[in-house]
Amino acid sequence: MKPEICFGSAWRLGTVLVMVLIPSMSANSALEQAATPGSDGATQQQMEQGAYLARAGDCAACHSAPDGQPFSGGLPLATPFGIIYSTNITPDPVHGIGQYSFEEFDRAMREGMARDGHHLYPAMPYSAFAKVSASDMHALFAYFIKGVKPAPTENRENNLRWPFSMRSLIAVWNLLYLDGGEYVAKPGQSAQWNRGAYLVQGLGHCGACHTPRGIAGQEEAYDESNGKRYLVGAVTDNWFAADLTADFGTGLSGWTKDEVTDYLKTGRTARSAAFGAMAQVVGASTQHLRDQDLTAIAEYLKSLPPASGVTVLASPAAADTTTGALRAGTVGSRGAQLYLDNCNTCHHSDGTGALRIFPSLAGSEMVNAPDVTSLIHIVLTGSAMPSTKIAPSALAMPDFAWRMSDQDVADVLSFVRSSWGNQAPSVAANDVGRLRKATEVK
Ligand code: HEC
Ligand code: HEC
Ligand code: HEC
Repeated sequence: MKPEICFGSAWRLGTVLVMVLIPSMSANSALEQAATPGSDGATQQQMEQGAYLARAGDCAACHSAPDGQPFSGGLPLATPFGIIYSTNITPDPVHGIGQYSFEEFDRAMREGMARDGHHLYPAMPYSAFAKVSASDMHALFAYFIKGVKPAPTENRENNLRWPFSMRSLIAVWNLLYLDGGEYVAKPGQSAQWNRGAYLVQGLGHCGACHTPRGIAGQEEAYDESNGKRYLVGAVTDNWFAADLTADFGTGLSGWTKDEVTDYLKTGRTARSAAFGAMAQVVGASTQHLRDQDLTAIAEYLKSLPPASGVTVLASPAAADTTTGALRAGTVGSRGAQLYLDNCNTCHHSDGTGALRIFPSLAGSEMVNAPDVTSLIHIVLTGSAMPSTKIAPSALAMPDFAWRMSDQDVADVLSFVRSSWGNQAPSVAANDVGRLRKATEVK
C-alpha cells in the first residue's frame, strides 16, 4: 500500500539518531530534570507538558487503531464523504512524522498541510488546533518526536467518493472556513474563563462533535462570539453530542460547575453518565486533566448563553403519576410495559436510577433532547461508562437491538420522554430503523 504522506521525500539518516535518544517518561524524574535541555533544546518538562497536551487534544483517540500501537494511525473515521484513515504520528522516519521539523509540524497542526505539501482532510481538527499557543505547540512537538515510541506502521489509503477524493479541493475549503490564528485572550473575562475557552476551542476540539456542521462539513461556529450555533449539539458518527449551552432542560442550565467538572473527571455525576463517543473522550482525555483546567472548562461552558431557544419545561416529577402506575403494575401503554420488562430493574420506577450507578432518565437533558439519535443508539447497542482513576467501574447498559423491534424501541423511548415530568416529543419507528442499519455490526 502506498502511503500518501511519504511520496517524494528522501530519508535522512539523522532521524535514526532521534530514535535512540528517546528518554523515558518517568513522572518522578520530571522535576529534577526540568531544566536540563535535551540535545535539541527540548527539556524534560517540555515533554511532560507535551504528553499532557496530547491528552487534552485526545490525539490517541483518532491516531490509534484498536489493535495498533498508540499514535500509529489506521483508525477509520466515517465522514459523510467516505472513510478517512488517521495517519501514523509516531516518530518513525518512514511511515510516521520522524522527519517533520517543528515548522512542518506547526503547519500541519494549524493549516492542515502535511510535510510534503499535501492538504490534510479537516477530519483532523486543525481548525481547532490553530488556536494552540506557540509554547504549547513546541511542547507537543518535543513529546511526539522524543517521547513517543516509533512504530513502523504503514498508512492506509482513504476510501472517499469523487470529488471528495481530490485533496486540492481542501485548499478551497480552507479559504472559506479556516479561521486560523492562535487563541487571543478576551479582555473583560477572567484568566480562568480564558483558560477554559482556550482548552475547549483549541486542543479539546469540543466543537468537532458538539457544534453542527454545514454542507461542506465545516463547523458552523468556532467560538461563542460567532452566532448561536456554537456547541448547541450535533450528530457525529451516529451519536448526538449534547447541547452544552444554557438551553433550559436540554443544555447545561441545570448543571452546576462542580457537576461539569465531576462529569469530565469521573465520567459520571449523581444523575448522569458519559456514554457513547463521550465515554471515550472522558476515558482517554478529560479524566487526565488537572483540576484547575477542568474547573476552567466548566467556567467557560457555564458562561455560554442559551442558544437554540428550545425550552422544554419539566413539570415537577412529584405531580407525575408514572411512578405509582409502574409500582402498582397498572401500566396503560405498550411503552410502559416494555419499560417494566426491560429497563425498570436499573432505571427504577421513579426513573431516577441509582446514584452514580445508573443515570437518571427523569429530567435528563439527553432524554429531553430534540435530537433522539443518542437515545436510540444507546438502547440498540448499549454502552459502558468510561473507567476512570476515581471511578473505575465501567458500568454498562445492555444492548437491546437483538430483542426489541424498531417499534418496541420507539415505544419505550416515547414513554421515557413523556414520563416523570419529561416533556419531549415521541420517537418514530422509522428513525429507529435508520439507526439500526447505520450502527449494525458488519
Ligand atoms: C478527530 C480525529 C483526530 C484527532 C483528535 C487528531 N487527529 Fe491528527 N489527523 C487526523 C486524521 C484523519 C489525519 C489524516 C488526514 C489526512 O490524511 O488527510 C491526521 C493527520 C495528522 C498529522 C499529519 C501527519 C501526516 O503526515 O499525515 C499530524 C501531524 C497530526 N494529525 C497530529 C495530531 C496531533 C498532535 C493531535 C492531538 C493534539 C491530533 N493529530 C489529533 C485525525 C485526528
Ligand atoms: C468525539 C465526539 C465528542 C467530543 C470531541 C466531545 N464530546 Fe462531549 N459528548 C459527546 C456525546 C456523543 C455526548 C452525549 C453522550 C453523553 O451525554 O454522555 C456528549 C456529552 C457531553 C456532556 C454531557 C452533557 C449532557 O447534557 O449530558 C458534556 C458536559 C460534554 N459532552 C462536554 C464536552 C467537552 C467539554 C468536550 C471537549 C473537551 C467534549 N464534550 C468533546 C461527544 C463528544
Ligand atoms: C443493567 C442495567 C440497565 C438496564 C436494564 C437498562 N439500562 Fe439504561 N443505562 C444503564 C447504564 C449503566 C447507563 C450508563 C451507560 C454509560 O454511561 O455508558 C445507562 C444509560 C441510559 C441512558 C442515557 C441516560 C443519560 O442521560 O445519560 C438512557 C436513555 C437509557 N439508559 C435508557 C434505557 C432504556 C430505555 C432501557 C430499557 C430498554 C434501559 N436503559 C435499560 C443501565 C441499564
